[in-house]
Amino acid sequence: MTSPWLQPDTIAVHAGREDLAGLGVHALPIDLSSTNPLPGIEAGGLSYEAMAAGGTPTPEGGAVYARLWNPTVARFESALAELEHAEAAVAFASGMAAMTAAILAATAGTGRRHVLAVRPLYGGTDHLLSTGLLGTETTFCTAAEVAASVRPDTAMVVLETPANPTLDLVDIRAVVAAAGGVPVLVDNTFATPVLQNPVDFGAAMVLHSATKYLGGHGDVVAGVIACGGETAAALRRVRAVTGGLLHPLGAYLLHRGLTTLPIRVRAQQAGAQRIAAWLQSHPGVARVHYPGLTGDPLLGVQMRGPGAMIAVDLAGGYEAARRVTSAVALFTHAVSLGGVDSLIQHPAALTHRPVTGDAKPADSIVRLSIGLEDPEDLIADLDRALTLRRPVEVLREVQPGIA
Ligand SMILES: Cc1ncc(COP(=O)(O)O)c(C=O)c1O
Repeated sequence: MTSPWLQPDTIAVHAGREDLAGLGVHALPIDLSSTNPLPGIEAGGLSYEAMAAGGTPTPEGGAVYARLWNPTVARFESALAELEHAEAAVAFASGMAAMTAAILAATAGTGRRHVLAVRPLYGGTDHLLSTGLLGTETTFCTAAEVAASVRPDTAMVVLETPANPTLDLVDIRAVVAAAGGVPVLVDNTFATPVLQNPVDFGAAMVLHSATKYLGGHGDVVAGVIACGGETAAALRRVRAVTGGLLHPLGAYLLHRGLTTLPIRVRAQQAGAQRIAAWLQSHPGVARVHYPGLTGDPLLGVQMRGPGAMIAVDLAGGYEAARRVTSAVALFTHAVSLGGVDSLIQHPAALTHRPVTGDAKPADSIVRLSIGLEDPEDLIADLDRALTLRRPVEVLREVQPGIA
């Protein structure tokens, strides 16, 4: 734990490194051991028992086996917990492995199998919950419907803010109050701890697809949940049994990535603000979904800035979405988000493909993840792609009579 009076930017650089000086190293060490030498049967067995119960290894018995504990992963977890104002954090092989563990920890063997899910959510989360794959029964609702939808067997409430892909902000404090003691999990992937700390508003679990901003360079798939000590123990028990582990190389990259997270997020956000304002006045754009434009009352209160994700409703509908996604040159047409380079994708066709009915995003929406490029270059790229005409349109200009 770094000093509580330090600023988040300082914590991002120093957290989770408290043992390094004692080890005689300055950079984060990567421990790739899959197993660990045992000092003796008794000590090893006791440490195993402590970790199987969701605890930490004993100093006498050590880590025993990497499915139970890894010091490189533990350092990243402790840094992320600090950034999220939480007691602990537990890292997983992906955001979906983290979500799976959270659902299993809250439901399996508890006699409560009902989940309340505030839509919209990331398509994969929506899919996991709507299929009932983990033995849960899910009620999808709006934030305003939470209080009326809680049942005696409700195990958890799941929400995302800003939501993927509409960028709607959800009032965490209001949902926590409406949940009446049922633990609320907030997916904080889009905001990052730089812009929002859901624990401060009563969230019991804060989930990240660490694949996105935390990693920030498009080269790690990972998930992490920041939470209280007891919840962390339950999550570690699930992780030890189901094996959805984060590899130490991934943990190393994530921990290193945390050091630049605040400056990356702020710079990406500054670019997004400029681009969102420009998009709003473009004739090819019907509507820009970006918290900074709507004057949402939660901005500045719950969320410290509007972030760097933008959803764009194109005036030309699906056809325009097809054209723009393939005409851009600096933006990569790809799913995922939060990296140093800008991405564009079509949520209805890709990230939200499994989502059905009214919850499916409109066909006219493309989602932008703004990177660290110069925003003027990105604007020029978008402008060219948005104003690119189909060959038939060019022909009509030359030969006005053509059908
Ligand atoms: C908001 C959000 N939550 C969770 C996930 C799932 O994370 P992962 O792809 O790391 O499993 C994603 C993935 O896109 C996401 O955007």
